[in-house]
Amino acid sequence: MYLIKTLMGDITKVTEVQAIVNAANNSLLGGGGVDGAIHRAAGPELLAECRTLHGCETGEAKITKGYNLPCDYVIHTVGPIWNNSMKLAMDNGIRSIAFPSISTGVYSFPVELAAKIAVHTVNRFLQDNPDCFDLVEWVLFDTNTESVYEAEVDKLYEEYRLCQKN
Ligand code: AR6
Repeated sequence: MYLIKTLMGDITKVTEVQAIVNAANNSLLGGGGVDGAIHRAAGPELLAECRTLHGCETGEAKITKGYNLPCDYVIHTVGPIWNNSMKLAMDNGIRSIAFPSISTGVYSFPVELAAKIAVHTVNRFLQDNPDCFDLVEWVLFDTNTESVYEAEVDKLYEEYRLCQKN
């Protein structure tokens, strides 16, 4: 069994996951928003490791250590292709992972659509790969974003309850 949940907060502070996902850009050399926060919290060694990765294509994902962050790993992804981050986590034996609201800040992707796609894609991945994860959570930075993701996760549990009844 796995748990999917949302919470409001700063993703650089979460302590219950092995990996956090960074909404990065193609250079992987840092930026604003959650990317900037992750680099600041991890310290300069993260940037040094990112330099060795030679960037990241849009939709792809690359993994580094977490350095001064509470988590062991950071999965850096560019744009909203959630499957690739989940696959990379699974291939590295990661069982618990936290996502920010990828692409809905600087990249201006609509939050409602992002939440729908993110929650459904991750849920499908978990169903296709049972027993690979214990926890997937979204760590959202503002109340509106949190309520939108929470509503999507609630829908999943509602669908699950209906399936159990029938
Ligand atoms: N913890 C959790 N969520 C956060 C945090 C935090 N510490 N800080 C910001 N957010 P954005 P994007 C939220 O702009 O749209 C960077 O410059 C934020 O409120 O970080 O994918 C990169 O280098 C929003 O809801 O990412 C790229 O160039 C969400 O994280 C570009 O921005 C995503 O906003 C990527 O843009």
